[in-house]
Amino acid sequence: MSPDELNQRFAIQDHLTFEAGVNKLTRALVDNQSARAEIYLHGGHLTSFQPNGQSPLLWMSDLARFESGKAIRGGVPIVWPWFGAHTIDPSKPQHGFARTSQWQVAESSAPSGSETILKLCLTNNAETQSLWPHSFELTLRITVSETLRLELTTRNTGKTPFEIGCALHSYFAVGDIARTTITGLDDCHYLDQLDDNKSKAQQGAVVINEEVDRIYRETEDECTICDEAARRYIHVGKSGSRSTVVWNPWSLKAQGMRDFPDDGYRSMVCIETANAADDTRTVDPGENHSLIQLISGRLGASLPGH
Ligand code: BG6
Repeated sequence: MSPDELNQRFAIQDHLTFEAGVNKLTRALVDNQSARAEIYLHGGHLTSFQPNGQSPLLWMSDLARFESGKAIRGGVPIVWPWFGAHTIDPSKPQHGFARTSQWQVAESSAPSGSETILKLCLTNNAETQSLWPHSFELTLRITVSETLRLELTTRNTGKTPFEIGCALHSYFAVGDIARTTITGLDDCHYLDQLDDNKSKAQQGAVVINEEVDRIYRETEDECTICDEAARRYIHVGKSGSRSTVVWNPWSLKAQGMRDFPDDGYRSMVCIETANAADDTRTVDPGENHSLIQLISGRLGASLPGH
C-alpha cells in the first residue's frame, strides 16, 4: 500500500500519519500529546522515540542504510526467528529475516490524546519459507505514550510446533558511555560471546569500557541505564523473556562496520529484551508467544553513589 492508501485507512488526526521516508521507504509518524515516534514498515523498525521534554531515547546511526535487504542500524531492529547466527546454516542471515522484511499495517487506534497504538504484521511467504519452513503470523504492537511499549507476538498458524529465538534489539542513546552504568543485572550470570561463550558472573553494575557482547541468563528484571552525562535514567522493562543481551561494539568493531560511525560506540548501548541461548521458545500450533519491552526515560538523575 502507498502512503496515501495507508493514510486513508489508518491515519488518525493528531496522532498518526504515513509518508515516504528515507529512500522512499514508507514510514509511520506518531505525534501525540506525550511523545513522538517514527516507524519504518521495512523491518517493522522503530527508528525514533522521543517523549515530550526529552531528547530521543533511541540511538540511530548517521550511516544507517535504508535499503531493501539491509537491516537499519539503530532504533529497534526485530531479531526473529533466530538470534545471532543460524545454528545449522551460517549462510542464512544473522538475526533472522524479520528485520529485513516488508511488514504490513494491521491496525491503528488512539485510546486517549496521549496514547497511540500501531499494529504491524508479517506472515509467511515464499521467501520466508525458503529460509524457515513454517507458517506464522508475527505482529508488533507499538504503543506510543510517555512510555514506549513494544509487544512482539509470534503465532504458529501451521500444524507442527516450531522453535523461535528473538530479540527487541534496542539501541539506546547515551551522553557518554564512559559515564554510563547499567543496573538490574547485578549478580546475574552471562555468556560472554567474545570469550567462547564462557559463563561469567556479573559483579555490581555493568560498566562498558571495552567491546561487550553478553547474553545475561535467567533474568526477568528491568534494567536501568544511568546516563550521568545526559543526567537521565532510561528504564527498560520486559516480559516473556528470561535473557537480556548487552552489546557495544567499541572502537575496533565500529571501524569495521560500514553503517556505524567510528566514534558511534561512545553514544550508544544496546539492551536487548531477548529469547536467546537456552531461552528459545517452542510455539505449538494455534498458540502464541509474546515478548514485551517497555522503555521510558527519567530526567534529573545522577549516578548511584554520586
Ligand atoms: C548482538 C549480538 O545482538 O547484535 C552481537 O550479540 C552482534 O554478536 C550485534 O554483533 C549486532 O549484530 P548485527 O547483525 O546487527 O551487526
